[in-house]
Amino acid sequence: MDKLKIAFFDAKEYDRQSFESSNKDGEFEIMFFETRLTPNTVKLAEGADVVCVFVNDDINSFVIDKLYEMGIRLIALRCAGYNNVDVQYAYGKVHVVRVPAYSPYAVAEHAMALLLTSIRRIHKAYIRTKDFNFRLEGLTGFDLHGKTVGVIGTGKIGRIFIDICRGFGMNVIAYDKFPAKDSGIEYVSLEELWSRADIISLHCPLTDENRHMINPESIAQMKKGVVIINTSRGALIDTEALVEGIKDRKIGAACLDVYEEESNIFFHDYSNHIVNDDVLARLISMPNVIVTSHQAFLTAEALSNIADTTLNNVREFFSSDKCINEVCYKCGQITDCKQLHDHKCF
Ligand code: NAI
Repeated sequence: MDKLKIAFFDAKEYDRQSFESSNKDGEFEIMFFETRLTPNTVKLAEGADVVCVFVNDDINSFVIDKLYEMGIRLIALRCAGYNNVDVQYAYGKVHVVRVPAYSPYAVAEHAMALLLTSIRRIHKAYIRTKDFNFRLEGLTGFDLHGKTVGVIGTGKIGRIFIDICRGFGMNVIAYDKFPAKDSGIEYVSLEELWSRADIISLHCPLTDENRHMINPESIAQMKKGVVIINTSRGALIDTEALVEGIKDRKIGAACLDVYEEESNIFFHDYSNHIVNDDVLARLISMPNVIVTSHQAFLTAEALSNIADTTLNNVREFFSSDKCINEVCYKCGQITDCKQLHDHKCF
């Protein structure tokens, strides 16, 4: 049998290294493309059996139709979130698999790293001492111990973040659409979370229902000085409302690893360019905002797990009827979904 060909989009050097290491026996032929998968670049997948994509590839109905016409039956996401794939349109045409967990520790630890950096002013202190400026004015922080953190989404990452916060002696309250039973977590309504939390951290997926869940109305209910952390998906926050909240001094700080308009900006070097996104430029100009470019997942352990799981998803899809990491827009809504029995959704 010929080797399976994988068209790998939005490839970075660290992706190449981890996938080449995971494919060291040459089981798969991987064609690495630096460009993202979009309606304009989908032609590059001609001849491949699988497309491998990441968070900012745009897999809309047009792309799905083109993949289907080319005989491609598998989209292998090398990430957990799948809001960039029209899974409903893909149903019945092209299967979608993902990596549901690669290192929830990586993301939860990054969320805490952002929080500590922000509230202890480490980003400011680092620049000062690099310039031999050893003054402390303007660097006063606050203790995390005794503060209330509101965690939205108590899945794999949210739970680890909760454990980390408890280690700091923080009080934890949480909101989840599907609260975990017997977890010992104090679940509250969103309204209660907005009004009680000193720090809010987002760990839920982006859906049509929760897009812009942080908006002028929710911000109005929050405590003055609240710190908002988003390592989940940018569009959970109405960014213009966030900017206004910071300008009004209602929001004390924002720690953002994701941004709703990140897809053409993050993962690229614009240090010698004028960035045209005024909202992002305004955010970055603020002393109490820290932006990292969707790097929460980026640890050696996570990259290795991503490569191993992605290639295993491809191997399993082509060699068996099983597809345990398939994403199906029907899953959870119907009881006869084949995927509930570990089989392909269609
Ligand atoms: P998970 O599936 O284990 O947990 C998600 C939790 O959110 C579940 O408990 C679910 O019930 C809950 N949820 C679903 N809809 C909700 C809603 N409307 N409101 C509140 N809660 C809701 O997912 P995991 O692994 O913990 O990942 C969470 C998110 O983190 C992913 O969806 C992804 O967007 C983001 N992520 C970001 C990364 C980064 O590098 N910045 C890397 C990996 C994931």
